[in-house]
Amino acid sequence: MAKSTASYSCSACGASFTKWSGRCDGCGEWNTISEDVGLSTGPGKALGAKRGTGVVLSDLSAKETPPPRTQSTMAEFDRVLGGGLVPASAILVGGDPGIGKSTLLLQAAARFGQAGVKTIYVSGEEASAQVRMRAQRLGLGDAPVKLAADTNLRNILTTLEAEAPGLAIIDSIQTMWLDTVDSAPGSVSQVRAAAHELTTFAKRKGISVVLVGHVTKEGQIAGPRVVEHMVDTVLYFEGERGHQFRILRAVKNRFGPADEIGVFEMTGQGLAEVTNPSALFLSERGQPSPGSVVFAGIEGTRPVLCELQALVAPSPHSQPRRTVVGWDGGRLAMILAVLEARCGIPFAGLDVYLNVAGGMKINEPAADLAVAAALLSAREDAALPPDTVVFGEISLSGALRPAPQTENRLKEAQKLGFTSAIAPKGGKASGVSAMTLNQMSDLTGFVGEVFGAG
Ligand code: TYD
Ligand code: MG
Repeated sequence: MAKSTASYSCSACGASFTKWSGRCDGCGEWNTISEDVGLSTGPGKALGAKRGTGVVLSDLSAKETPPPRTQSTMAEFDRVLGGGLVPASAILVGGDPGIGKSTLLLQAAARFGQAGVKTIYVSGEEASAQVRMRAQRLGLGDAPVKLAADTNLRNILTTLEAEAPGLAIIDSIQTMWLDTVDSAPGSVSQVRAAAHELTTFAKRKGISVVLVGHVTKEGQIAGPRVVEHMVDTVLYFEGERGHQFRILRAVKNRFGPADEIGVFEMTGQGLAEVTNPSALFLSERGQPSPGSVVFAGIEGTRPVLCELQALVAPSPHSQPRRTVVGWDGGRLAMILAVLEARCGIPFAGLDVYLNVAGGMKINEPAADLAVAAALLSAREDAALPPDTVVFGEISLSGALRPAPQTENRLKEAQKLGFTSAIAPKGGKASGVSAMTLNQMSDLTGFVGEVFGAG
């Protein structure tokens, strides 16, 4: 009897199964499992008894030149790509609906076009007229970019093959459909098959493709996680709706450093590059006030200063609130526990709110000490000395660990007019003599010295 080769996978977590069920065992979601459909360029049905041909093996020592890159002249975009666009690479740009992905990529397309890269922008969401109107409003009406509004991937690939552009932008991957796949556009099978076709096409034909992807409520690119594995580079376009700042963040990059960020500002004329993000993030800071601390962080290869704000107030609830915007809630709980256990400063019965100003998201452990400083400053109602930046990682024992790139952080702080810094012992800071550097080895010492308690 022929064996059934059908397989099923979950659209939320990407787990695969041999049979269908209503609930995914992997992530517990309901109604997310659907049948997989074979990829049209996949390895074929069954290997059977037929032998393959040998593959070519080579030495690690074979000479390779670094990939040539094309710059768009949009410096923030090039930086996130790792220094420009690598030919034949596949890039996924994810983000919430309405955050500005189409605007960003239309502007990038125009810049690449002006830089001499033949660029095609395919919109599956908007009509050509709409895209054209937006381009004209952004002053890009004359940019050498070809537009198409279609969702049939077979037709799009045929066109791309004939036109042979250097860059193709597909907005969005969720709207594309293949006639060989028997399910609706946006379904797991369609998104996966479309991404597979486009990425293999990119490699084969030497065309760079940018895929735009929507993000689900949970913050993942809609469709299976496998799309992220298929592409060379995954960028997330983040920002708070109410804020004008937008951050393009590399979360994966085969051709450059991950965690690199590009900062933009949404204006009436589209996205403007922000070349000095620290100045922007600190521009709204008023007089030094309790609960406000400036953190000297590193994003990718670049130092970025931003303001942390904390509010600590007696809680009317039996279970006090812990609310964090722009940082990790679990990490906040850890800092509160360390302050309580190692320094004897309780937060029980107090509501704690922590906010990273400007809509910025921080992932660095080096923010620990700045968070602790903001919490203590809010709790004691005492502002930190003005013109001071803070950074350092806190361990569970209450010891402070040196943060990487101490010198770069200090240089950036100095550039922005800060005169002193509180940091862990051990970080090298030889090149920054103009700043008063207060180096500490543990949290208890920090609390005693800065807040006179402990
Ligand atoms: P869009 O690029 O369509 O978002 P996405 O493709 O991620 O869904 O951006 C839509 C938002 O951007 C919309 O709310 C209006 C705003 N916007 C501006 O503020 N200024 C502009 O110049 C443009 C083009 C858009
Ligand atoms: Mg869009």
